[in-house]
Amino acid sequence: MYVYDPPYNKMRSAEFLDCHVLVIGSGGAGVRAAIEASCYGETILLSKTIAGKGGCTTMAEGGYNAVLREEDSCEDHFEDTMKGGAYLNDPALVRILVDESPERIRDLLKWGAVFDVTDRCEVAQRPFGGQCFPRTCYAGDRTGHEMMATLMDRMASSGTEVIQEVSVIHLFKDENTVTGALGIDRNGELLAIRSDSTILATGGGTRIYDISTNSSSGTGDGYALGFRAGADLIDMEQVQFHPTGAVFPYDARGRLVTEAVRGEGGILKNSLNERFMSRYDPERMELSTRDVVSRSIATEILEGRGTGHGGVYLDVTHLPRSQIESRLPVMLEQFLKFGVDIRDEPMEVAPTAHHIMGGLRISTDGQTTIPCLYACGEVAGGVHGANRLGGNALADTQVFGKRAGEAAGRSRKRVKKIHRKEIEAQEKRLAGFHEGSVLPTTIARSLQTAMWEGAGIFRTARELEKTLEVIKHLSSLPLKATGNSNLAECCTVQNMLRTASLVVRGALLRKESRGAHVRKDVTQTWDAKSSPYGHTWQNLKDSGVETGVKA
Ligand code: FUM
Repeated sequence: MYVYDPPYNKMRSAEFLDCHVLVIGSGGAGVRAAIEASCYGETILLSKTIAGKGGCTTMAEGGYNAVLREEDSCEDHFEDTMKGGAYLNDPALVRILVDESPERIRDLLKWGAVFDVTDRCEVAQRPFGGQCFPRTCYAGDRTGHEMMATLMDRMASSGTEVIQEVSVIHLFKDENTVTGALGIDRNGELLAIRSDSTILATGGGTRIYDISTNSSSGTGDGYALGFRAGADLIDMEQVQFHPTGAVFPYDARGRLVTEAVRGEGGILKNSLNERFMSRYDPERMELSTRDVVSRSIATEILEGRGTGHGGVYLDVTHLPRSQIESRLPVMLEQFLKFGVDIRDEPMEVAPTAHHIMGGLRISTDGQTTIPCLYACGEVAGGVHGANRLGGNALADTQVFGKRAGEAAGRSRKRVKKIHRKEIEAQEKRLAGFHEGSVLPTTIARSLQTAMWEGAGIFRTARELEKTLEVIKHLSSLPLKATGNSNLAECCTVQNMLRTASLVVRGALLRKESRGAHVRKDVTQTWDAKSSPYGHTWQNLKDSGVETGVKA
């Protein structure tokens, strides 16, 4: 590493590290990928945060979907996932998800994860939305935390070298092949890593919205890195708004209120005390799919039937106190801190940006459209179509994390070139931030407001065009670094702007309502299954929407 300092812009060759597989990201997918890749050769995992503590997996509360009972079937899990995803999912990826998620949860159990069990000592399962069988496995309401602790333990004995608090700002390429990455730490020190294969496992990007469940690392870094490297991204317009985020206190806005609350029997009511889901999905009620529940809640609020804090009520007071205490302990504690005892009074909730279903186009082994670049977890697209089922994300991290790690690990060793001109271009980019005049937080805040207002649950071309103009304007502003310590933050805000632009451009390309993407200005005669449209796609050179693709 060397400290980046404008007058000094020569990288010493000693500052390069070499490895077989470079994993970027330390959430569930990245760590699972590193565990697998390390079986084949030297593996380095770069984490933007303290590995295992940042990212979204550790915050995931509700559960992990897997077919574990004879009464259930992979065919049903497949159909639920395709139907929930409005048939925009890539069927081959869904097939793999449902077939392999049971094996991957067994890996976790073997490595020591403690999931809740039934009286017969079988892994317990609860219902989540859009399921025809209750197949969500859980560890109370801190499932992701339990998984991350287990994965981190396992990775510690895998030989993976973990480098903490380094943000990747560029993927190196030799001709069309990715050959490594350039990172920067909190002190502005640069680190260049040469790798035979590189895996993006950077998670999602809903921090581009004002209200989001994501941790501060959900800034869309992987979408931006992949895009700049020339990879295809698909369906970026498909942003999931989780139906239930906290609405107060102000600083906790958007914080996840797990679907497990509804899985355990929680009911939604408006300010008129109506159980309003009977109007929108009388059959599945609160356990309808997230796109439907979010729209229903948003409609209730928009039509004036919201609560004083601008949400709706989520009520578990009819459940036995012991059930709330044992199955939803994190929710109980979280709301007690907000001054609400959920055993006696309802929570107030509203939709919050949660997950981007789109992402890098991948093969079944996580290979992107650029040689030697893999992607897994939320940064990859295609698995969840137009709407992800709750519980399928944690399964996705394990199934496709393992696959990407194995494929990257098996890839051949080669001579990896890093071109000096690429480093010089990045040094110039960083130097530019020292000359800038607008703080990254100012740009990020304006972006978040614009995205929430113009590219939220309900969309129109007019609002989307307006939002795109705001993004273009914000992108043209000269970002200012107050010192070496926030050079990474400037790069992160550029990633947020790129991600937002991909979302909005995707939303303009998809001239239909499908899953989580609702175009209020488009009338259509088809349903999801008979839609004439397939994936939207974007890359450096071009963009479009596939037509004639049927599930
Ligand atoms: O509601 C939740 O617990 C979130 C789960 C998920 O996004 O899969």
